[in-house]
Amino acid sequence: MRKPLCALAFGALLCVDGSPARAADDAGKALLTARCGRCHAIAANEKSRLKNAPNLWDTLRSYPTDRLEFELAEGIGSRHIPMPQIQFTSDEITLITAYLQVE
Ligand code: HEC
Repeated sequence: MRKPLCALAFGALLCVDGSPARAADDAGKALLTARCGRCHAIAANEKSRLKNAPNLWDTLRSYPTDRLEFELAEGIGSRHIPMPQIQFTSDEITLITAYLQVE
């Protein structure tokens, strides 16, 4: 039996049982949309709402996985003034990397 993955998204506890890979991807996307979507585009070929915020699909996927995990845990935004510092838990990071690793 797989360990269920839970994450806080849209203010509600979101759980996926880990079986269909798609569910983790969707949860990861939902997390990014909730926390980062008001400024950044989250999916490929979308335009960011904030003009100079990069598309996160392209930006985050260009990071090596260990750097991505580190940045998400430490608060990626801290270096950028208009960006709030947002830190993710390790369960949330698992969901986000599952989303970003979809080919
Ligand atoms: C309030 C708007 C806002 C929010 C919310 C926001 N960002 Fe940003 N982000 C920006 C802007 C603007 C830039 C470009 C700043 C710059 O390049 O100086 C940026 C840049 C970035 C970059 C590029 C950094 C680099 O070194 O090139 C990454 C990665 C990033 N954001 C990730 C995230 C993630 C992940 C979240 C959600 C946890 C998030 N952002 C939430 C506004 C935001």
